[in-house]
Amino acid sequence: MKHGIFLIVLISMICRADMNMSLGEQDSRMWETQALRLPWFTRWSCILDMQEPYAHWFVGGHINASYACLDIHIKNGKKNKTAIYWTNEQGGSGTVTYQELYQDVNSFAKYMRSCGVGFGDKVVIYMPMIPEAVVAMLACARLGAIHVVVFSGFSSQAIKDRIVDTQAKCIITCDVSYYRGKILNLKSIVDQALVDSDLERKVILIKRTQEPVGLVPERDLIYAKPEVKNLSLDPVPVESNHPLFILYTSGTTGKPKGIVHSTGGYLTYVFSTIEWVFGITPESIYWCTADFGWITGHSYGVYGPLMHGATIVLREGAPDWPDEKSWWKVIDQYKVSIFYTSPTALRMFMRLGPDLLQGADLSSLRVLGSVGEPINPEVWRWYHEQIGRKACPIIDTWWQTETGGFMIAPTAGSTMVPLKPGSATFAMPGIEASVVDSYGNPVPADTKGFLVIKKPWPGMAIGIYNNPALFKDIYWTRFSGMYYAGDYAVRDTDGYFWLLGRADEVIKVAGHRIGTAEVESIVLEHQSVAENAAIGISDPIKGEVIVIFIVLKHGYQVNQELHDQIINLVRTKIGSFATPKEIYCVEKLPKTRSGKIMRRLLKTLIEGCLIGDISTLEDDASVEEIQQVLQSADLYIKRVRI
Ligand code: WTA
Repeated sequence: MKHGIFLIVLISMICRADMNMSLGEQDSRMWETQALRLPWFTRWSCILDMQEPYAHWFVGGHINASYACLDIHIKNGKKNKTAIYWTNEQGGSGTVTYQELYQDVNSFAKYMRSCGVGFGDKVVIYMPMIPEAVVAMLACARLGAIHVVVFSGFSSQAIKDRIVDTQAKCIITCDVSYYRGKILNLKSIVDQALVDSDLERKVILIKRTQEPVGLVPERDLIYAKPEVKNLSLDPVPVESNHPLFILYTSGTTGKPKGIVHSTGGYLTYVFSTIEWVFGITPESIYWCTADFGWITGHSYGVYGPLMHGATIVLREGAPDWPDEKSWWKVIDQYKVSIFYTSPTALRMFMRLGPDLLQGADLSSLRVLGSVGEPINPEVWRWYHEQIGRKACPIIDTWWQTETGGFMIAPTAGSTMVPLKPGSATFAMPGIEASVVDSYGNPVPADTKGFLVIKKPWPGMAIGIYNNPALFKDIYWTRFSGMYYAGDYAVRDTDGYFWLLGRADEVIKVAGHRIGTAEVESIVLEHQSVAENAAIGISDPIKGEVIVIFIVLKHGYQVNQELHDQIINLVRTKIGSFATPKEIYCVEKLPKTRSGKIMRRLLKTLIEGCLIGDISTLEDDASVEEIQQVLQSADLYIKRVRI
């Protein structure tokens, strides 16, 4: 025993916790206690090895995410418990038990392995919100393969970019998906993404219809669910810091970046936070409406609820299709107890008036969550009163792809603080969040500043795929020893956090993250465009929408055709959710002397705010420059709407 203790002391001395961002003894113990609640194959030798900006949690411990989501429940006698209720626009529905999900995952993992997919291989998943998508994710995890889920609303270009960046070995897709009464041909979108790609890269197709589908010999394989029901494949124990997945997200510059998440630290964090925040239990009927292609779908759509042995609800299709009552009928039908959605969806329903909820019994609801964008107090109140009958707490959760899980949110699973409509309240246990000025000093109460995190946490991303330098640059250089989130926030005199939106060039359209640079580089591909600037402006439903300012090359004219071409370019290169709302043709773009486009000025002008309010302007631009541009703003902006 004495030797054991000695060894532990020795090992923890080896672990480095250099840098400013260190973890206290109390937090270490708390995270270790939480990690111990998961089924590890081997115990870690060190809780945290932090070499800023890289945090390695539970070093040397081995775990498998599919084991933690499935095998453990089968072993605990829960095999007949419902894992998934699924439903869709056409009225189809069904249930999948934990035993069935376990079998499906094992069979699919075996099939993937027979196709050559193994430990560390990257696998792109392009699928709708159906149980097979969960199976694909968990099958990757079972093999130690790394999934790269692509939102099924993205275009072929987005799939291609992710395949190229990750050198994915395999793509899993379906022939079709169903959305708003239409049939979308997913396989053909994948085909376009793979034009010119080598045949070594396999496409595993899960067919949902009897319709014939074009197959590329040697490349495309149709998965047939085996008749044999007891296929099993031992989960591959992976070291805690082996990537569970890569998920692409937009930032200030360039193309979307591949955010890499670990296995052990990530699972520990998601497992803990979903319990603290939503109070999830195995009895919960839990519906998270986010697509699997976003971080919310990963952490709180799949891994969090399944680790707890809860029942998840999946619905394929548009929220208001076939009618506006569809979602509320789903809640009634499955007796959903925890419901988690976005302010955009709520705003859309809110404007429909009081008849919306008639005929749907929502009394099963216990907790209501919100994510992705600030929730306006008015929407918060509607959610609380109309959906929650004033009986459910509104859990506004602030977090990001990079944070892996909730960072600031009320904790319905333990002591609840009094809620304030529109505030995400306080940071999670173990999370030290602060609002600072541009020098990194804490700002006084009720003052706007930058949100930072000062201590490491197990859910934090372990890097940007293929670009370690960028990871440091984006998140860890602006403020020494702190994680820079890229959001503005305020803390009120009671210490509550109020999130105010992005402080950088990221736009949130209906909660979906899009970088202005991403849009601008696409618009620039149009032969007539000399220069352009994309901005996000407020929208009563979607929170923000994209508006583009273009400067035409000499000899080109503004007309409807040009307008349509540019709109289509963005739709086809990113996806229809990114469709710009307006395009303005201008003679010059307002810039700083150093050549930086002043997007905030454009936003101010278009939203009709007072131009004199220079606090809304680009932070890096000097005030003098800004004032000069402001004085001549009329010359710069010629409001010609195409
Ligand atoms: C924004 C989504 C206000 C924020 C989980 C953040 C929010 C970005 C909230 C991350 C919230 C997320 N209140 N803003 N409750 N939740 N955001 O990576 O700007 O898609 O930086 O992750 O969404 O978006 P992402």
